[in-house]
Amino acid sequence: MYAITIYNNKGGVGKSTLTVFMADFLASLVIRERSLRVVVLDLDPQGSCGVAMLGREGLEAARQSGLTVGDLARRLDAGQKVDIGSYLHRRAAGLVKGRATAIGEVAVMVSDKASGFAFEVNPLHRLTTFREKLRPFLATCCDIVLMDLPGNIDVRNLLAVNGLIMSDSVIVPVEVSRFSLEALPDTLEMIHYARERGGGMRPTCLGLLLNRVDKRGQQYHRNIGQVHVLADRLGIPVFENALPNAQSLTTATDDTGQVGSLRDRYGHYHAQVKAVVIEAFRRWHSVDG
Ligand SMILES: Nc1ncnc2c1ncn2[C@@H]1O[C@H](COP(=O)(O)OP(=O)(O)OP(=O)(O)O)[C@@H](O)[C@H]1O
Ligand SMILES: [Mg+2]
Repeated sequence: MYAITIYNNKGGVGKSTLTVFMADFLASLVIRERSLRVVVLDLDPQGSCGVAMLGREGLEAARQSGLTVGDLARRLDAGQKVDIGSYLHRRAAGLVKGRATAIGEVAVMVSDKASGFAFEVNPLHRLTTFREKLRPFLATCCDIVLMDLPGNIDVRNLLAVNGLIMSDSVIVPVEVSRFSLEALPDTLEMIHYARERGGGMRPTCLGLLLNRVDKRGQQYHRNIGQVHVLADRLGIPVFENALPNAQSLTTATDDTGQVGSLRDRYGHYHAQVKAVVIEAFRRWHSVDG
C-alpha cells in the first residue's frame, strides 16, 4: 500500500482536482489482472472530493450516517475498537459499452462539515494515530490511499498532520504564478514538520505538479524559470507532465452523477491527465521500489 497526500498550503491551486483525477485514473488501472484498489481520504471540511466522488446527496447521506473521518479519528484516538471498513463509502465503477475504459470503483472517507471552531473540536490529540491505527487497516484492503488536505492550515490541524505523517509522499500542485510560488516555503515547512514529528524519512516530496498551465500566456513565460530555480534550491523535482488550464477539467470534478468511461469524463484532455498520473505512479515506484 502506498499513501500520497496532495498538499499545497495555498488555497485553490488544484489539490482536490488532482486528487480526483488521480483516483479516477489509478482506480482504472489493471495490474497483474487486478484493478488497483483506491481509497480517498477527504481531510478538507469543504468536502470537494466527497462531492466529486459521491455527488452532493451522497456526501450528505454519508455525513448524516455519522461515519466521517472525524468520527473515526476521535474513536481511534481514544483507543476504541472500531469497524474501520464501515467508514468507507463506495463510488461504484462506471458502466461502459465496448472497449472503453470504465472509471474504476473508489472508496471514500468523507470529511465532517466545517464548524466555526475547527481547532477547538479537533477530533485528534495525538500526531501518529492514523499511522499507527488507520494505516495498518488500509494496508489490508487497498493499494493506494490519496489524501486531500485543505489549504491555509498550520500545525494545529491535527487531522492534516496525521494524514501527512501517515503518508509515504506528497505531491504539491502549483500554478505558475508569483503568488503560488510564494506559498511554497510554508508548504515545505509543514511537510518537514510532519517528517520530523513522525520521526522518520517520510513523507518525501514527490514533486511539484504544474497546474492550469497555459504555455501561450505571459504569466507562464514570466514565471516558469523561477519555478525551476526555486525547485532546485529547495531540492524538489518538477513533474515533466503538467495539467493544462481547461474549462472541461473544471467540470470533470463537478457533481456530475454517473460517468461511465474515462474518455467521457476527460474528453480531449484524457491523454494529458493520464500522463500526469502515470508519471506520479512511476515516480513513487522509482523512489520507493
Ligand atoms: N487544470 C485546471 N483547469 C481548469 N480549472 C481548474 C484546473 N485545476 C483546478 N481548476 C479549478 O480551480 C478551482 C480550484 O481548484 P481546487 O478546488 O482543486 O483547488 P484546491 O487547491 O483544492 O482548493 P482549496 O484550497 O480551496 O481546497 C476549482 O474551481 C477547479 O475546478
Ligand atoms: Mg480542495
